[in-house]
Amino acid sequence: MPAARLEVQGLAAGYGSVGILGDISFAVPAGGRLTVLGRNGVGKTTLLATLMGLTTHKGGSVKVGDRDVTGLKTYARAAAGLGYVPQTRDIFRSLTVEENLFTGLKGRPRTDLEAIYTMFPRLAERRNHGGMQLSGGEQQMLTLARTLLGKPTVLLLDEPLEGLAPVICDQLMETVLKLAQSGEMTVVLVEQQIERALDFADDVMVIERGRIVWQGQAPQLRADQGLVDSLLGVGIG
Ligand SMILES: Nc1ncnc2c1ncn2[C@@H]1O[C@H](COP(=O)(O)OP(=O)(O)OP(=O)(O)O)[C@@H](O)[C@H]1O
Ligand SMILES: [Mg+2]
Repeated sequence: MPAARLEVQGLAAGYGSVGILGDISFAVPAGGRLTVLGRNGVGKTTLLATLMGLTTHKGGSVKVGDRDVTGLKTYARAAAGLGYVPQTRDIFRSLTVEENLFTGLKGRPRTDLEAIYTMFPRLAERRNHGGMQLSGGEQQMLTLARTLLGKPTVLLLDEPLEGLAPVICDQLMETVLKLAQSGEMTVVLVEQQIERALDFADDVMVIERGRIVWQGQAPQLRADQGLVDSLLGVGIG
């Protein structure tokens, strides 16, 4: 399936009675790349979790292609094309790499697994290693690989680079960029490494206290250090 457009209108959400996100509207065209930036605790993870139906819905809508997924449960959203790589690397630590991948295969042909091993040679080498024996980077690759086996049309990535060595970050971002450029998926990336995030994105969105405070193109933000400072309070590069 080719990449799908993601459209979010007036989304509001939280946890139980607590409101976290409000009035979130944006769209990513099919095959587009959006980076979501923001300081710690502003609601970036909550946004991705909300797109997956994992928080308390308080208003607004989410569309994947032509499909309105707002009222759907998480598994149905996944079936509608949303793939989610959470900030907490969700692997089964007691299973091997290959067994972890099998859980993402869900009856699809084994050849899909070989395609994933080609994309992640490191996982191929470690296919019989236990999840517990993997490095942070390998765990992140495994989580991403398992999500990709579900053939998402919109991929949601929550800080995939957190805690990884620079060279592993390079490899991972290269893989994700290739995927996005293949036209097979639309990608929403939450990332705190601003330079890498801007290298990746077409469009950028900055969140502050659960609201969008800036939306624009990556080069605009890159060219304006004052804006970066005021929005994110950090230097770039
Ligand atoms: N399960 C939860 N129940 C209640 N409140 C939560 C829950 N998860 C997060 N929050 C609150 O929601 C707000 C946004 O948190 P969130 O994890 O979305 O931020 P974030 O931007 O992803 O931060 P970080 O950059 O540290 O990952 C915070 O105030 C946090 O305390
Ligand atoms: Mg987060």
